[in-house]
Amino acid sequence: MPVADTLTAASRRAADTAPAFGVYVHWPFCLSKCPYCDFNSHVRHGGIDEARFVRAFQAEIASAAARVPGRTVSTIFFGGGTPSLMAPSTVDTILDTVARHWTIASDVEVTLEANPTSVEATRFQAYRAAGVNRVSLGVQALDDAALAALGRLHSVREALDAVAIAKRIFPRYSFDLIYARPGQTPQAWRGELERAIAEAAEHLSLYQLTIEPDTPFAGLHAAGKLVIPDSDAARDLYDTTQEVCAARGLPAYEVSNHARPGAECRHNLVYWRGHDYAGIGPGAHGRLEIDGARHATATEKRPEAWLTRVETLGDGLVTDDVLTTSQRADEFLLMGLRLAEGIDRDRYEKIAGKPLDPDRIADLRHHGMIATEGGRIRVTAAGFPVLDAVVADLAA
Ligand SMILES: C[S@@+](CC[C@H](N)C(=O)[O-])C[C@H]1O[C@@H](n2cnc3c(N)ncnc32)[C@H](O)[C@@H]1O
Ligand code: SF4
Repeated sequence: MPVADTLTAASRRAADTAPAFGVYVHWPFCLSKCPYCDFNSHVRHGGIDEARFVRAFQAEIASAAARVPGRTVSTIFFGGGTPSLMAPSTVDTILDTVARHWTIASDVEVTLEANPTSVEATRFQAYRAAGVNRVSLGVQALDDAALAALGRLHSVREALDAVAIAKRIFPRYSFDLIYARPGQTPQAWRGELERAIAEAAEHLSLYQLTIEPDTPFAGLHAAGKLVIPDSDAARDLYDTTQEVCAARGLPAYEVSNHARPGAECRHNLVYWRGHDYAGIGPGAHGRLEIDGARHATATEKRPEAWLTRVETLGDGLVTDDVLTTSQRADEFLLMGLRLAEGIDRDRYEKIAGKPLDPDRIADLRHHGMIATEGGRIRVTAAGFPVLDAVVADLAA
């Protein structure tokens, strides 16, 4: 039964006014490792003891709930790796466990990341029945040659079939594309983007290809065998992205995320707006406010080591740091300024214990990098391509 259906009217009323609180659940396995990817994802040929993982997820949820009891969960996100390799019964048990330890908001958003190679209608229906109400598909490209070059196991046809299944079964869906790929021209990207928007409905995540250290792509890049667009060409592709998406009603609400107004991914907004979230599973990060202190948590990354840790200690935590005032303030700026809506200046002042430097604000405004209105500061279209420098300047 969907988790939201288990609520009484009274708990719904209480839930609807509670501050945002997210739960992130990490599934660390994939069918193969993509050569560009440095996420905590692993390939296991010998089979995975999923029942053992389920028990460990249950234990870690109980342990997180003991630290921050009484919260109302507004979003749950199954990320990976490839969570669509999880048995629907695993997803069901995890959602039930979350509902047993915390209150679930009546409008809870439950997202599951899916790889087009592991999308079947019956499996998706079972996730839906378990309570998942949004999927995010790793389409990556709408060009077969590009998909092969990215080491993906699916074709454009298979990706679009997966999108069609998602559309039929879930109230909300999104998909990811990677651009600024080797040899990609703005014209070709524009065509791909138009096609994506026609399929997308409400939300798209559009990431510029980054060369991550210690990946096969990093080796090829260093050897000159993989040439990616230089900064001017990447800027043209970025500008094309902004222009086409805005014209088609999906403006960027965050650096790499585009949505029709109201269709933003609420789970990711929890991160960017500086709210609390519990990180469950191998290598998951969390931010929890406990007795007025903001804790930055992280769990053991290696899946089997995480299992052993949870089985012996009750959770997989390897980091549990209390952030200093300046760390909290910097993080709030760094995350919040990624959003088109920007940050609330009063909230910054409460966190930092001091206002932002008015001279720096005036200077950045003068150069057209930021705008200020209604007690907020936001980065402008001119400022976003140099966001890191803008944040560094404000935080200094
Ligand atoms: C954790 S992956 C999950 C999706 C799913 N595993 C899949 O690949 O279909 C999240 C997204 O990050 C993006 N990504 C991963 N590595 C990247 C890189 N080096 N550059 C740009 N985007 C990347 C991809 O678009 C991917 O869909
Ligand atoms: S399927 Fe997704 S998470 Fe797995 S290796 Fe590829 S990009 Fe990374």
